[in-house]
Amino acid sequence: MTETVLLVGGGGREHAIARALANECDLYACASNRNPGIKSLADGFETIEETDAEAIVAFADEVGATLAVIGPEAALAAGVADALDDAGTYTFGPRASEARLETDKAFQRRFMADEEIPGNPDFETFDDMEAACTYIDEYDGDLAVKPAGLTGGKGVKVIGDQVTAEEAKTYLRESGYERVVLEERLVGEEFTIQAFVANGEFRLTPAVQDHKRAYVGDEGPNTGGMGSYTDTTPYLPFMTAADYDAAADVIEAVVDALPAYKGILYGQFMLTAEGPKVVEFNARFGDPEAMNTLPALETPFIDVLTAGRDGEPLPELSFSGQATVCKYAVPDGYPTDPDSGARITVDEETVGDALLFYASVDEREDGLYTTTSRAFAVVGMGDSIDAAEAQAEAGLAAAGDGVRIRHDIGKSDLVQRRIEHMDEIRD
Ligand code: AMP
Ligand code: GLY
Repeated sequence: MTETVLLVGGGGREHAIARALANECDLYACASNRNPGIKSLADGFETIEETDAEAIVAFADEVGATLAVIGPEAALAAGVADALDDAGTYTFGPRASEARLETDKAFQRRFMADEEIPGNPDFETFDDMEAACTYIDEYDGDLAVKPAGLTGGKGVKVIGDQVTAEEAKTYLRESGYERVVLEERLVGEEFTIQAFVANGEFRLTPAVQDHKRAYVGDEGPNTGGMGSYTDTTPYLPFMTAADYDAAADVIEAVVDALPAYKGILYGQFMLTAEGPKVVEFNARFGDPEAMNTLPALETPFIDVLTAGRDGEPLPELSFSGQATVCKYAVPDGYPTDPDSGARITVDEETVGDALLFYASVDEREDGLYTTTSRAFAVVGMGDSIDAAEAQAEAGLAAAGDGVRIRHDIGKSDLVQRRIEHMDEIRD
């Protein structure tokens, strides 16, 4: 039977999901922006806010969706998975109560403590910003300051890295946040492991390293992620198989504690001198990480979805073993003052062998327009990170004016720096 899948979301991550599913099912999609990549792959597309559960359920009903996949966390937080499930469409994405693992950082840390999930840093939560400031004054060491709610990865301030303790206190006092988490600053190299989860089972994917800082050389404010890479093994050049396995143990502990969880469980880890610690969990694919992971996945994604729905064992996953490098083109001024509503061009003919993923752009009659977020990404693949990087760079010739790219991502200088940094941490 041909499945009919409804995909919710209009970013680069969702374009990667659409590409993985398009040949395996009848695909319909909805998002607030008109992503030309998703539109061209889907049999039908509707402009619907990702948080409008009622309209999404109506669209699922109209197209006869037998499955749904949710890309963005905002949809999960708004209960779109609950609404679709309750209306009879099995949805690969957790219910809002379980998505709190991502959407409420105070819940996340408390859950880890209560369930004795390994890798939890020292933390406290505060509703009173003055009490949080006092904690900063009295804490022996640096802290990371995190608003409890969703901020698109841009709300966290790390003392001793991005801000001083005084700046962190001013940030808290001026923020208007109702609840914050203060936690031990973790020092090391970050990596992501995403797992497909359903029916109490999970299947792991290769580790990815994202680059959150806006500018070349890891300078500037945090962003949603400027680009990412994977190696030819499940590990990254700065980590060992044992580091990966320790992170996998964390994923397993979470799945054991949440037997009804379904969807992607995304672990963001800091590889510290003591091994991997949890920076955060996300309840969906990473963006950009989905663009590294899905093109290398050889197992049909639809088989994971149907196994989840039908209560069957999840298929073992097979990956191509190619390295991948993803680089985002973002609007000028992103993330602090993005030039939204600007017309940009992408020359699809020039992308060559690289993969092009459209993200938060809006296709109008007279062309492609930026929004406040990342515009499009190019992914190179190859037998080494260097080869993948070269293919991505060649593909980026497709980018016209009005966008900014971190060309250093995936280049051997930066990859080498990460290895040396990890060596220093381990010494
Ligand atoms: P999050 O929104 O939790 O992903 O945080 C955004 C970024 O802030 C992470 O990718 C890290 O680079 C940084 N960060 C978050 N928590 C910590 C921590 N406890 N120690 C050091 N850096 C952190
Ligand atoms: N790349 C980070 C995220 O998707 O949250």
